[in-house]
Amino acid sequence: CGIVGYVGSQSASDRPLDVVLEGLRRLEYRGYDSAGVALVGPQGPLAVAKKAGKLANLVEELDLHPLPPSTAAIGHTRWATHGGPTDVNAHPHVAGKLAVIHNGIVENFAGLKADLEADGVRFTSETDTEVAAQLIARAYESTGDLTAAMTAVARTLQGTFTLLAVHQDAPDVVVGARHDSPLVVGLGEGENFLGSDVAAFISHTRDALELGQDQVVTITPDSVSVTDFDGRPAEPRRYTVDWDAAAAEKGGFASFMDKEIHDQPQAVADTLLGRTDARGRLVLDEIRIDESVLRSVDKIVVIACGTSAYAGHVAKYAIEHWCRIPVEVELSHEFRYRDPVVNERTLVVAISQSGETMDTLMAARHAREQGSKVLALVNAHGSTIPRESDAVLYTHAGPEIAVASTKAFLAQITAAYLLGLYLAQLRGNKFADEVGTILSELRDMPDKIQQVLDRADRVRATARSMVDTQSVLFLGRHVGYPVAMEGALKLKELAYIHAEGFAAGELKHGPIALIEEGQAVFVVVPSPQGRDSLHSKVVSNIQEIRARGARTLVIAEDGDTEVLAYADEVFFVPRAPTLLAPLLTVVPLQVFACELATAKGLDVDQPRNLAKSVTVE
Ligand code: G6P
Repeated sequence: CGIVGYVGSQSASDRPLDVVLEGLRRLEYRGYDSAGVALVGPQGPLAVAKKAGKLANLVEELDLHPLPPSTAAIGHTRWATHGGPTDVNAHPHVAGKLAVIHNGIVENFAGLKADLEADGVRFTSETDTEVAAQLIARAYESTGDLTAAMTAVARTLQGTFTLLAVHQDAPDVVVGARHDSPLVVGLGEGENFLGSDVAAFISHTRDALELGQDQVVTITPDSVSVTDFDGRPAEPRRYTVDWDAAAAEKGGFASFMDKEIHDQPQAVADTLLGRTDARGRLVLDEIRIDESVLRSVDKIVVIACGTSAYAGHVAKYAIEHWCRIPVEVELSHEFRYRDPVVNERTLVVAISQSGETMDTLMAARHAREQGSKVLALVNAHGSTIPRESDAVLYTHAGPEIAVASTKAFLAQITAAYLLGLYLAQLRGNKFADEVGTILSELRDMPDKIQQVLDRADRVRATARSMVDTQSVLFLGRHVGYPVAMEGALKLKELAYIHAEGFAAGELKHGPIALIEEGQAVFVVVPSPQGRDSLHSKVVSNIQEIRARGARTLVIAEDGDTEVLAYADEVFFVPRAPTLLAPLLTVVPLQVFACELATAKGLDVDQPRNLAKSVTVE
């Protein structure tokens, strides 16, 4: 879910609602099952509006039924957990003169609700949030102080939550509390902001405070105060947001998805930037893990979900090759609950665009409890996973707004490669001398990605011709295998088409049974220049499926004439070393999914049922 809070002076009475709606627009990628706002001002009663569906529905409602002027406001965009996506279950939830919004899950809500019901409280929604609202309202009645009420209730809640509250009798205050769920503060002049992340207020201020775990924050127009859940003052870290507000806008593209696909050369270039010294050696100062620990690591475990996990799969091939350290890649939620064998000599790499994915956070915590060092590979600054890790290597992809990940994926592969090269350099193994060469090959990649984008018209035309397709398969081998899986994921996410990625070598062990006349199959072909007989094996796989009627859509390297005979369509990408090729071969697959979904009239930025940042387990 996305949450925004604002408090300002009385002289600009439309501003609270404007700020909150704009913040919600920027946070909508965090969930869009419903949206709502609550306003308070010195002249009037608490005002609330909420609507199921996207933010546009709420805006329409507000046009029909405008809310009164205000000084403070909170707003919420929801990804449903408890209770379906209806108007009633939308946030804010109201208890008397108080309104609350919530991100996360209150796990002990059933017991608390039963107690309140026994006391005569009647609930209007099915949500855990309404329970919190009732509790805070009661605490306010006895203390007359919103901060004290929030603090007292925060102590009793279990689970994960960020809560924001406003009260009619305190029109110049917004109070927030966070436990295992994100909340940042934006510092303005005569006004202050709260948000799930900095995107909520980036067009108003770049001055921010990072709240710690289990803290309560109170903002008024001129003050920000932070305490722990026992009411003891806390000192949050102040920082300057370096994201450009323009980078969070569409910049002329039809969708954020399309824009972010086109941002990819920059995302890779920025992730490489400033990470070498004058002699061309890699300098990753931010990896603040003792070098002796990094030298003695005997296993790397990558934990991640979704697209980030596929970046981990790609990285496995490179890191094992360069460093001779075994690399396991595991979905965070599977890792966490299966008693994994990790210890002081395991380096756990937590890959996450948002830095907030609860599954990955929990897995990282578990790894640290076992004595492992956790290195976060994250895109969003100020997020939770880096804060709870031993070190962080940031990907510099800039804000990624579209729910399905594209540029963060390329940046993650790039950063994971830097990590692999750094470990090779540090450990002085046989690839240590080649680090400079590989780095310069990596620096050529942004131009090559741009070339793939420049040639993407044919991919788009093919995608448009396939709007009625029911199923697409994706095959790849070696690093092409995770690329195939990511291609399939993109198509599922964006176009709601059944899609599956397979290891091309596995085809004959089962999936080939799916091939029938006209079945579309993308095949990611490795470079003919590459090692061993990888290329010819994949070419044989294309022949095998073609012979059974498949329609073959082949991604191959410039100059690979051999594939022409077996391909219904070929999309060529520039030549690149085998390990770097995923940065190119995945791009046509992203473009394909985006174009096909657009041709079907779907919203590529906000696919159904998904959220960008999943802060529940
Ligand atoms: C969600 C998103 C995916 C994303 C995954 C992991 O499910 O819809 O696009 O890949 O989370 O997110 P993270 O922020 O941890 O990379």
